[in-house]
Amino acid sequence: MITLKSRDEIEQIRLSGQLAADTLDFAAKHLLPGVTTGRLNQLIHTFICDHGAVPATLGYRGYPASSCISINEVVVHGIPGSRVVAEGDLVKIDVTTILNGFYGDTARTFCVGEVSPRARQLAEATEKSMYLAIAEVRSGARLGDIGAAIQGHVEPQGFSVVRDFVGHGVGLEFHEEPSVPHYGRRGTGLRLKSGMVFTIEPMINEGVFNVRILKDKWTAVTTDGKLSAQFEHTVAVTPEGCEILTLSGGEEK
Ligand code: MF3
Ligand code: CO
Ligand code: CO
Repeated sequence: MITLKSRDEIEQIRLSGQLAADTLDFAAKHLLPGVTTGRLNQLIHTFICDHGAVPATLGYRGYPASSCISINEVVVHGIPGSRVVAEGDLVKIDVTTILNGFYGDTARTFCVGEVSPRARQLAEATEKSMYLAIAEVRSGARLGDIGAAIQGHVEPQGFSVVRDFVGHGVGLEFHEEPSVPHYGRRGTGLRLKSGMVFTIEPMINEGVFNVRILKDKWTAVTTDGKLSAQFEHTVAVTPEGCEILTLSGGEEK
């Protein structure tokens, strides 16, 4: 079942989403060579709580941390801990906040210092593919239009779209219907409707799209050990088109 959100609910999700985005801005300031992912997670936890919200990931299906921090070959759901951030790393930070009961979910890939040209290209292609997908979102568009936009941008550059994780409805719960694949065929799939709120969160790999899960049951890594990048926004379908609900103070509308 897909729950359509009212204007008022969308505004509440936006407040939560802005806090999640502000949390990423804050984390970015501390993302320097030598910091551990565990330390970053602590800072993120405190920031979210200090702003009257709850980190949605903490205790979610047994997940043990207040953020996901995934470095280089880690695709998603990296558990913060003793891993040390190094110059040249691609670091994905994913934060979901619950503010007044409403969920905002956003992630970005950060380049630490000087990264390889291919790593930078991967991060830039991933971000651009997310914005191209968001540009497809309006009432009457199809889910397949979103996936096609992402694939159409990254595959010509030799990158691949992860299949095993998808975007999702969000807002009143963490993961709601529908599933939002980041691959697909234009003109196919569910028709979007005003009031839908969901994430678009492409995970794009440098090599093959296959992933495997480590023994900790969470950490997803590329099977070929090559790099992966991800960006995520929470978006709402509105009568006018689409609004991004996870923009921070510092971001352009
Ligand atoms: N924030 C992730 C998403 O975009 C979900 C993380 S669930 C966790 O859907 F349990 F791994 F934290
Ligand atoms: Co998400
Ligand atoms: Co997320």
